[in-house]
Amino acid sequence: MSGGTSVAKKNDDVVIGPTGRPYNGFATPAKLERHGPARIIALCNQKGGVGKTTTSINLAASLAEYGRKVLAVDFDPQGALSAGLGINTHDMTTIYDLMLDTKRDAHDAIVHTHVEGLDVMPANIDLSAAEVHLVNEVAREMILARVLSKVVKEYDVILIDCQPSLGLLTVNALTAAHGVLIPLECEFFALRGVALLIETIEKVQDRLNPTLELDGLLATMYDPRTLHSREVLERIVDTFGEKVFETVIGRTVKFPDASVSGVPIIEYAPQHPAAQAYLRLARELVDRGAVA
Ligand SMILES: Nc1ncnc2c1ncn2[C@@H]1O[C@H](COP(=O)(O)OP(=O)(O)OP(=O)(O)O)[C@@H](O)[C@H]1O
Ligand SMILES: [Mg+2]
Repeated sequence: MSGGTSVAKKNDDVVIGPTGRPYNGFATPAKLERHGPARIIALCNQKGGVGKTTTSINLAASLAEYGRKVLAVDFDPQGALSAGLGINTHDMTTIYDLMLDTKRDAHDAIVHTHVEGLDVMPANIDLSAAEVHLVNEVAREMILARVLSKVVKEYDVILIDCQPSLGLLTVNALTAAHGVLIPLECEFFALRGVALLIETIEKVQDRLNPTLELDGLLATMYDPRTLHSREVLERIVDTFGEKVFETVIGRTVKFPDASVSGVPIIEYAPQHPAAQAYLRLARELVDRGAVA
């Protein structure tokens, strides 16, 4: 499988991308003179297996490739982001320890990866106790925001990989974030549940974080050879218009392969169309102003 998102020619001069807009490769971002403070982006969808973690890892690595200082926060007790970057989280200080004791130095839970410019705040199964333990805390929705405020100046972007739920952890992520990125799998029930997710985002905007923005929706696991995939993408674009990123991530077995190896795809198979797609997504985010 190619993992590419094949661009169809409409006429002699205009190349149309898979979202129906003229294809734009987006310019290589300018180097940053100074770093920080970070814009914080939460990757959310309560539907499981839509590409939140794959996107967090590969977008983080792509932004680091463009010289951005990136912190990827694993906010899922499954610890898939940590594992996907080759971090063994057993017996390690994790995001959960920082949330339990917000006076603790946040740097205790920061791991430098082998990717230059990319750090990780890992999680492990301990985090599954958070919803129960934090429920009686004062300002329980703002705990992650407090933790991240200590390191926000040191990064250009912080990506939060949420778990597939709309519970207290995800509300913490939405409260800490400046923007939300919603990955959607180009599959039959892609849009089912998105209304509830948008409603949750609006509630957080209303009550906790008025400046939270919807940065965009990312179509993942797109297979241009199937009518079904093309129809689902069309429906996503019909519903959300310009909010849908022009960059679409193709379906390819390279992602499971790269995760098993504990490296981002831009290292595992840099020339692969899927690696190129995440680099392009990073350029699109800079182009849209969602990232410095
Ligand atoms: N573009 C893609 N093509 C093929 N497989 C993919 C693609 N993106 C992700 N995958 C695979 O699909 C599975 C789910 O992806 P991922 O873990 O990123 O989703 P998730 O939304 O984080 O899941 P969860 O809700 O369980 O946290 C993984 O096995 C991953 O390797
Ligand atoms: Mg995940």
